[in-house]
Amino acid sequence: MVAMLSDARALLLCPHCGTGWDASASGPRSLVCTAGHRFDAARQGYVNFLTGRGSRLTPDTPAMVQARERFLAAGHFAPAAEALAEACAGLPEDAALLDAGAGTGYYLAAVLGARRRARAVALDLSPHALRRAAKVPGVAAVVWDLWRPLPLPDASVDAVLDVFAPRNLPEFARVTRPGGLLCVVTPLPEHLAELRDRLPMLDVPAGKADALEREAEGAYEPVARRRVTMPLSLAPEEAADLALMGPAGHHADRDQVLARLGARRVEATGAVELSVLRRR
Ligand SMILES: C[S@@+](CC[C@H](N)C(=O)[O-])C[C@H]1O[C@@H](n2cnc3c(N)ncnc32)[C@H](O)[C@@H]1O
Ligand SMILES: [Zn+2]
Repeated sequence: MVAMLSDARALLLCPHCGTGWDASASGPRSLVCTAGHRFDAARQGYVNFLTGRGSRLTPDTPAMVQARERFLAAGHFAPAAEALAEACAGLPEDAALLDAGAGTGYYLAAVLGARRRARAVALDLSPHALRRAAKVPGVAAVVWDLWRPLPLPDASVDAVLDVFAPRNLPEFARVTRPGGLLCVVTPLPEHLAELRDRLPMLDVPAGKADALEREAEGAYEPVARRRVTMPLSLAPEEAADLALMGPAGHHADRDQVLARLGARRVEATGAVELSVLRRR
């Protein structure tokens, strides 16, 4: 089931001119703004708002997205998804959500859960990732660069989710209604520490959640912080997926990674922090 763009019309603005959509010219799989700019959903359900703009950023490749999807589908990071769903449990049944850097929509699906009347926008640079996100019921998957003004109206969403993705705090604050939530998942310094010397992965600086709260201070008050620890026991192929689904996937070679890992299972610990902030 591919999401209907008509369901998300109220949550999106034309990325070219910032106006809303012409209801008679738009359809279930196309958006036409009142100035006539037209965006059609791809066959796989997502819609590309970056047409003709050429972002300088490199989207995740199909191989990175496949690694991410396999790894997440195996449930290794399910405790993080559960923590996020719990943080959002108080949102209304018909909540409007934004997942910034949604990837395959794994975490968004967990938050939406059984809320059939909820609507969400999943923004990501990667069309390959959004093919998956577009299949989550209620989700409009839109290719967009988070560093540009977001194609959503002011005060339009009840919560913004950001899981291991870039944060454009001024824009998150603009699109969130007063009292709405910002839920951010960041890695802790000890995240996958056992793997760092064996695999091509970036180090994680300390104090990410503190920095977030400081940076967001004018617009958001901190509500809760929660550490989520996830013991992982991984087959070598799974550990390779974990390494290659992140930024290292842009340049590392899978065969080399597997050679470094050898044949034994890999024991590691996922350690992330969920920060929940409320829009003032
Ligand atoms: C580490 S992944 C996390 C994806 C997803 N939230 C998850 O945890 O499965 C980071 C995501 O951010 C996206 N991304 C990176 N820079 C971006 C940008 N400037 N605008 C939009 N998305 C971006 C990537 O394409 C990728 O899907
Ligand atoms: Zn327009």
